[in-house]
Amino acid sequence: MKIYERFSDAEMKRLGLTGNMPKHVGIIMDGNGRWAKSRMLPRSLGHRAGMDALQEIVRVSKSIGIEALTVYAFSTENWLRPEQEVNALFSLLVEYFYKEIDELDANNVRVHILGSLERFSPKLRELMENARERTEKNTGLHFAIALNYGSRDEITRAVRSIVSEGIPESEITEETISSHLYTRCLPHPDPDVIIRTAGEQRLSNFLLWQAAYSEFVFTDTTFPDFTPEVYFECIKQYMHRTRRFGKVLEV
Ligand code: FPP
Repeated sequence: MKIYERFSDAEMKRLGLTGNMPKHVGIIMDGNGRWAKSRMLPRSLGHRAGMDALQEIVRVSKSIGIEALTVYAFSTENWLRPEQEVNALFSLLVEYFYKEIDELDANNVRVHILGSLERFSPKLRELMENARERTEKNTGLHFAIALNYGSRDEITRAVRSIVSEGIPESEITEETISSHLYTRCLPHPDPDVIIRTAGEQRLSNFLLWQAAYSEFVFTDTTFPDFTPEVYFECIKQYMHRTRRFGKVLEV
């Protein structure tokens, strides 16, 4: 089991990670299939390699002081993939929660699942709920896994619950909406930066509401090859951006 050490100031300086660190990073983990295809491997092995890459990203996120990491692991649209691939992904998830939960918990990581769990197998649901409950008192990195997640579905569910709670129209604010989204469990629900791997430049129904002022960083690297070094380069790109949130900074 690995212990995720916080990097020293000297190490952060050596890595060029001094300045405006993002508090919440979102990652669209893309390119597992292409990674596998280019090696003449089945797509499921691409997802496995992606899982290995993710372990390192979680570890170093803690080391560099990220407060929340949200990864897009399975979208509401991914059910349309061949059954064999969907099942392979779910087996990987079962394996992930079995194998990783002790390490995540020992490192004070708090696990969240964003998405509705009802379509998953009882076994997978139990593992996810156990991961969430077991780590709910942890105070370190918030690690959110978006599973059966789609932003339009999330917003639709939020509207439905606002209506069913009988909140009067005049009292509905942006805050009311935010507090009905899955991300309400995170300390900074809106990601500062969203990184997408494997060259595509779109959101694919990921955190549409929360991304209103997020910066975007795109890299051609596929997710299985997304090493901590590539991750740090993406963070550095974010650090060089000027965020104005619609305002004018200098007059
Ligand atoms: C997109 O690549 C990736 C996914 C749909 C799945 C992401 C899953 C993992 C990284 C595995 C493990 C996750 C956890 C949380 C343990 P793609 O298959 O669409 O790639 P392609 O566009 O090259 O075909």
